[in-house]
Amino acid sequence: MCGIIGYVGETEEHDALDVLLEGLSGLEYRGYDSAGIALANGSIAVRKKEGELSALESALEGEALAGDAVGIGHTRWSTHGPPSDRNAHPHTDADGRVAVVHNGIIENYQPLREELADGGVTFESDTDTEVVPHLIAAFLEAGLDREDAFRRAIGRLEGSYAIAAVFEGEETIYAARNESPLVLGLGDDGHYLASDVPAFIRYTDRVIYVDDGEFATLTPETVTVTDADGRVVETTVETIEWDAEDAGKSGYDHYMLKEIHEQPSALRECLRGRVNELERSITLEELPALEWEGPVQFVACGTSYHAAMFGAGLLESRGVPARPYLASEYTAAERPVGPDSLVVAVTQSGETADTMRALREANAAGATTVGVTNVVGSSAAREADHVLYIRAGPEIGVAATKSFASQQAALTMLACALSETDAGDVVRALRDVPDGIQTVLDTSTAREVAEAYEDADAYFFIGRGPQYPVALEGALKLKEITYKHAEGFAAGELKHGPLALVTDNTPVFAVVVGDGERARKTVGNVKEVEARGAPVVAVTDGQTDIERYADHVLEVPAGDELAGAILANVQLQLVSYWVAHRLDRSIDKPRNLAKSVTVE
Ligand code: M6R
Repeated sequence: MCGIIGYVGETEEHDALDVLLEGLSGLEYRGYDSAGIALANGSIAVRKKEGELSALESALEGEALAGDAVGIGHTRWSTHGPPSDRNAHPHTDADGRVAVVHNGIIENYQPLREELADGGVTFESDTDTEVVPHLIAAFLEAGLDREDAFRRAIGRLEGSYAIAAVFEGEETIYAARNESPLVLGLGDDGHYLASDVPAFIRYTDRVIYVDDGEFATLTPETVTVTDADGRVVETTVETIEWDAEDAGKSGYDHYMLKEIHEQPSALRECLRGRVNELERSITLEELPALEWEGPVQFVACGTSYHAAMFGAGLLESRGVPARPYLASEYTAAERPVGPDSLVVAVTQSGETADTMRALREANAAGATTVGVTNVVGSSAAREADHVLYIRAGPEIGVAATKSFASQQAALTMLACALSETDAGDVVRALRDVPDGIQTVLDTSTAREVAEAYEDADAYFFIGRGPQYPVALEGALKLKEITYKHAEGFAAGELKHGPLALVTDNTPVFAVVVGDGERARKTVGNVKEVEARGAPVVAVTDGQTDIERYADHVLEVPAGDELAGAILANVQLQLVSYWVAHRLDRSIDKPRNLAKSVTVE
């Protein structure tokens, strides 16, 4: 999704152009198809290019743009109009007095565009954003000063936005937020704003999160946050606990591989202070004793939805009715949600538009809400009644990896807390998981499996119980980074239709952990596909005889189904990574996808 960056400061310390380009590079992970910058010390200079950031950098070579102290930048993920130079941000008014970058969607842009066109404005792009500089210019012409013109223009917008604007010849950035992320950075030699902290973490770890409906004004010396009426808002300065190196690749070819390998430490961090081995108990200090009626409702998208399925299944297995919903399918009007409900929003970024809408609807219905998220200060963290951090650290690769494992662990602990059941079994299962993942990472033969099946027509993943969401997640990971067809099924459903798809060129990955009834039944399903000639890859801890029917085995340390679901997923992540690697895909930034999906 689009990313914005802004900087205003001392040129002796940082050149705005350098800060903006580095900032845009720190936002690349969000996914984008064009990039641009505007510098504003004197007259506004805008440069923007379709394609990767390198295209913009090449276009800037030889340009005498150094020496500016104020500017804004943008990575665009197209929503209105195709990727192109002219649709890239920043956008300006006709006279180039103001330049604007925007993340979000302006829902009433069409009537605004018609109104402005009737007043003589000619539009240069297809974007919704371009109405903003023209509105600001109209208010300037009506005699308002710059800040008032900006505020009045923002007041005309409906929809979601994080917007930043610079005016010619002024060392100030004006910004506003509604339902799109916006964070301010307080440096010693200037001030920053961005969609996300990695854009400026190398310069400062002191941040202020801007809330919906608030405005921010940044100068080299001051940062002021105000409400819609212009009253100064008291803000909290928070300190980010990770640094630029944490957000870098640390020698790995891809963020995805680095983040897969970070899972042992991410899991330890997630469990730290929450799992008490001596007392065999789990304590989530951030959550008070909660009361609710009816099933616990989980809302989430994509990988986080698979984690929510996993969490809901576990909760039910501990006697508490629970139901996972795809956030995009969840509307409070059609769901049994009210003041007695408990709604858990699972979201790595804490900014996913579908999940945030569902969370907001649950809040509005009076439900008690819990945000399970990775990003401190994110919208989910701030808007839910309670927040449970998964503590996975920054995840830059578009494919969710370590955040899924940490969500599984956090939701396992949440299930214990909500069900108030004896946590002995869960403590036993979770305490060995970080070392178990390390064993998987050290011994995995996923690379050979990827080599064997890189040319497959399609890939199927099956599992039962806790392994069913893992099968879905395995398929999602493979399709998103390899662009190959992959599907996950509940193992028992194969014979109700999908078995017709099985051929000798469609490997079936079967997740079989433990020696319980579910594992034994999945072995039965494996026999069915094996009998029809499909290659079988068993992801297993070897407690059943599945290896007899498998062409390849990806081993996980023996344990219970719960731990096995976290460990098996790591093997599937590695298979996806190595297939994508062999196919030379854009692993960290798959086509058409964005890390943080901030539009519905
Ligand atoms: O930030 P969120 O967890 O809310 O993101 C939800 C999905 O967009 C996300 O999990 C997506 O499916 C993954 N990037 C896929 O790997």
